[in-house]
Amino acid sequence: MTRTDGAAVQPTEPLEPLSPRVMGASPVRLDGPAKVTGTATYAWEHTLRDPVYVHPLQAAVARGRVVSIDTRRAEAVEGVTAVLTPGNAPRLADASDRSLAVLQTGEVAFRGQFVGAVLAGSPETARHAASLVDVVYEVEPHDTQLHTGRRDLYRPEKINPADEADTEDGDVDAALAAAHATVDETYSTPMEHNNPMEPHTCVAVWEGASDGGEPRLTLYDSTQWPYGVRTTLAQLFALAPERVRVISPHVGGGFGSKGLPHPHNVLAVLAARTVPGRPAKLALTRQQMFSLTGYRTPTVQRVRLGADAGGRLTAICHEAVEQTAKFKEFAEQTAVQSRMMYAAPNRRTSHRLAALDVPAPSWMRAPGEAPGAFAAESAMDELALVLGLDPVELRVRNEPEVHPRSGLPWSGRHLVECLRTGARRFGWDARTEAGTRREGDWLVGLGVAGSTYPVYGGPGSVAEIERTADGGHAVRIAAVDLGTGTWTALTQIAADALGCPFDAVHLEIGDTALPAATVAGGSAGITAWGSTIVAAAREFRAEHGEDPAPGARTRSGMPGNPDMQHYAVHSFGAQFAEARVHADTGEVRVPRMLGVFSAGRIINPRTARSQFIGGMIMGMSMALFEESVFDHGTGHVVNHDFAQYHIPTSADVLDIEATWLDGPDPHAGPTGAKGIGEIGIVGSPAAVVNAVHNATGVRVRDLPVTPDKLL
Ligand code: MOS
Repeated sequence: MTRTDGAAVQPTEPLEPLSPRVMGASPVRLDGPAKVTGTATYAWEHTLRDPVYVHPLQAAVARGRVVSIDTRRAEAVEGVTAVLTPGNAPRLADASDRSLAVLQTGEVAFRGQFVGAVLAGSPETARHAASLVDVVYEVEPHDTQLHTGRRDLYRPEKINPADEADTEDGDVDAALAAAHATVDETYSTPMEHNNPMEPHTCVAVWEGASDGGEPRLTLYDSTQWPYGVRTTLAQLFALAPERVRVISPHVGGGFGSKGLPHPHNVLAVLAARTVPGRPAKLALTRQQMFSLTGYRTPTVQRVRLGADAGGRLTAICHEAVEQTAKFKEFAEQTAVQSRMMYAAPNRRTSHRLAALDVPAPSWMRAPGEAPGAFAAESAMDELALVLGLDPVELRVRNEPEVHPRSGLPWSGRHLVECLRTGARRFGWDARTEAGTRREGDWLVGLGVAGSTYPVYGGPGSVAEIERTADGGHAVRIAAVDLGTGTWTALTQIAADALGCPFDAVHLEIGDTALPAATVAGGSAGITAWGSTIVAAAREFRAEHGEDPAPGARTRSGMPGNPDMQHYAVHSFGAQFAEARVHADTGEVRVPRMLGVFSAGRIINPRTARSQFIGGMIMGMSMALFEESVFDHGTGHVVNHDFAQYHIPTSADVLDIEATWLDGPDPHAGPTGAKGIGEIGIVGSPAAVVNAVHNATGVRVRDLPVTPDKLL
């Protein structure tokens, strides 16, 4: 296991588990004091000499081309350094990814696309000058409407991350025709936008080499993946990757929207190239984020279920229709969890896309599983009603002994235990028939949903361990902490792996000057980076003994995990919600939520609880609030700020709790951790909507559940 290029080394034996000592304790966040005292340095805040500020110009039409740009009034403003346009912007070496080919042509593929930028000595000057630029367009008709009757719906080659678009097992149609009970309903979810607290910011510095060698590019970027940004931008600008450095010590949330580089990264570098040696600072406004940093595709999902008289599923059919951009495909994996959640001999899943004149969709917390589980877990609730069965019991009866498609044994499933534990703790027994419980003006109901999320966490990361002069250990890996507690949890893992106290680990993350790391996404960070640190620490100890001299150093990639081929490795959970619906106004309140999870070893209960309940709050938000309202006339999102795009406030979040069936999953890796970033959101929308149905008798199949849908 000595390869240092990040490639997997395939051991034949299962990985040896790491014994917990610091893992499982709840140290407070190492980065907490810096954050609450305002001294944590976010991308925008790095103090650099003589910056220029970049304010983008955005297309005001949804499709067409730029015919002319009059920059004279902007250039006349005192303090303006330059105005970039498709006519004068530096050329990219590789413009094949059209979503990143910023200012390479005058073509407009969606409203809000970059068509220029003003560089100036202050952000205010840049913004003011940008308002003085006159752009003339040749307008072409645009097409932005997703609906299931479109004739041009197509089947993608693959769905995110690399799965087959369709699956077919058995004879679904015959099974549905012969079923004792069926559900056949269509559910829809709207376009939604990621809104991390810190908007997307990037500071780029382009320095020509004095020796005539290759230039250097440094980025201070708010990203979930420094190495991903480095690789992509090096290619776009024809630089050797070693000449590009990406620095991201603190990141204020991402939820997937900072998983991959976006056009603003490219624009910042284009600007930096025009002012060599000076930092170019670009911070997207909240409104700009709604066009430029990805979103969750709207979906329309038809779910058909068939069951026998005993409540056993005979058929599961989950067909998803969603959108992508004409210029770049993103195929969300909406129906994938229906491939493995419950047992059924006959099963079909499919994904169809409409390619539209819109920005490309991208990752948003649990892409696929979150909107998919809303439909699938609502349909299970509807089937329970048809069968006259308790919704918890229906799920228990359809527990698959092995993965229904691959036949692999579960590495650990425990969904039934999550459901039973949750039902007991939540007071599920108090649930009454739909629409029968009223307290004053409020209709009260309880709902449940199941959740799952796969364990990704593959190889690609490298860690370096070095004995320091103070007798501690430097641990270096280009992981990032999005505010989730990664810094603390990885330090705990390193302490156990090195057999040293928590305080003796000096973890360095968030910089491509450190060894490579995979993305902080897909709930994979702790599993992937933790396994890598464990491998490096084991090798360090084997190489240098238990009392190494200062400077002793080892670098190692993550070994492949052979168990991933022999087991179905997923996390599971059950969410419970209470809904109170005002009988006259339709206002929905969620006074209580409980999540019970099976996600392997919990490294840090304090930060893990925040991750789980954060996901559940985002799921409640998806159920009740979030909807990007797309104006098909103009081709953009009209509610593009917090005044109109609603997310929960503290007043909306009442008694919300998460717990877990603690126990390492030895097949997930040496730490036994499976990842917890996304499963909290997965079942939550359905749990809330099922509770609303139980309160009112009204079934809402079109998110979000706004009061008008209940009256
Ligand atoms: Mo998550 S949507 O994989 O950052």
